[in-house]
Amino acid sequence: MKSTINITTEWDIVTAREIGRNEAKKIGFDTVNQARIATVISELARNIYLYASVGTITIETVEQDGKVGLAITAADQGPGIEDVRAVMQDGFSTSGSIGAGLPGVKRLMDDIEIQSQLKEGTTVRVKKWL
Ligand SMILES: Nc1ncnc2c1ncn2[C@@H]1O[C@H](COP(=O)(O)OP(=O)(O)OP(=O)(O)O)[C@@H](O)[C@H]1O
Ligand SMILES: [Mg+2]
Repeated sequence: MKSTINITTEWDIVTAREIGRNEAKKIGFDTVNQARIATVISELARNIYLYASVGTITIETVEQDGKVGLAITAADQGPGIEDVRAVMQDGFSTSGSIGAGLPGVKRLMDDIEIQSQLKEGTTVRVKKWL
């Protein structure tokens, strides 16, 4: 399964979160991991909304070496991130927030890849294995 949610309003963040939680449940994640996945989707969608205004969240089932998991891809064509390493440190924020979003996402998932180019946009792809 694969579904893409356009993020343009705060309501879309809630929708993406719920779709993610349901998919996680369907493939067999326990309630704790369903909540972790929902949190990750919220954080990534909120970053799209705050920093890029619009973008997409794609939620898909993935399989590799006999393992099953869920991949979440957050993509936007916003301003991009100047220093990807810096934003992975706790406490880095350009919006006066606590800057725990991306480091938290990394801790909750099994892997994270961030591609970002200034003025081009940002793609964050994370995976969690069952
Ligand atoms: N999609 C994005 N486009 C452009 N910049 C981004 C994007 N996502 C994150 N950033 C940049 O990375 C910084 C760190 O993001 P992170 O989510 O970790 O913290 P935050 O959003 O500042 O605070 P918090 O998520 O804790 O409320 C942001 O302050 C912003 O500068
Ligand atoms: Mg954030």
